[in-house]
Amino acid sequence: MRNKIVAGNWKMNLDYSEGLALFSEVVNMVKDEATGNQQVVVCSPFIHLHSLAALANGYTNVAIGAQNAHQADAGAYTGEISAKQVKSTGAEYVILGHSERRQYFGESNELLAKKTDSALKNGLIPIFCIGETLAEREANTHFDIIKNQLAEGVFHLDAQAFGTIVLAYEPVWAIGTGVTATSAQAQEIHAFIRAELAAKYSQEVADVTTILYGGSCNAKNAAELFAQADIDGGLIGGASLKSRDFTDIVKAFN
Ligand code: G3P
Repeated sequence: MRNKIVAGNWKMNLDYSEGLALFSEVVNMVKDEATGNQQVVVCSPFIHLHSLAALANGYTNVAIGAQNAHQADAGAYTGEISAKQVKSTGAEYVILGHSERRQYFGESNELLAKKTDSALKNGLIPIFCIGETLAEREANTHFDIIKNQLAEGVFHLDAQAFGTIVLAYEPVWAIGTGVTATSAQAQEIHAFIRAELAAKYSQEVADVTTILYGGSCNAKNAAELFAQADIDGGLIGGASLKSRDFTDIVKAFN
């Protein structure tokens, strides 16, 4: 059985006390909603990680993640935070390859492959994001783009290492726009990704890999998206900043 995950990506929002207040509300509201193979992950700015991890301690189905990590463990990289440092806060996940990192910080597939290695070496679970832009979809190159992001970003991993990562399909045109991919569009890509995993590794690896959908996922559309055969939950931006909306998305697990 695959793990099901609803992960919030707070992006660069919430000061320290706002983050703690929101997380306390979220924990209280979701602690009984996610059970068994269902997991709730909150990916906060670095400043919150340690405090949130302490608050999450004791709830087996609630975990904390970062939104980025440097590929080196330590060194003269002013302003950067390593996967090793993230792990030391008590965080368990890290988002890598988000389209905002690719677009605004020039993160290439090659760099993301190194970040993935560093995250895994340090015991973090990467939530590795892939997805096409609107222009790429309109040019009908979206399948090639996704294939390439997988090949260059994560397919250097052996099957065992690959088995620990989570993928997130986030069409760039759906992020923060209010335009969600239809459940059929999302399912089509998720099935394509799973077929790529089967071809590269094995059907077994393809069957156990958790693949999340992200991009204007909200309390209204989550249930339909999560009901698709190859969609195992969501990576949630805007709606993760409101405890009730986020909780309603978690409820869409069931
Ligand atoms: O990583 C989550 C994300 O990019 C989606 O953002 O605001 O469209 O849910 P949003």
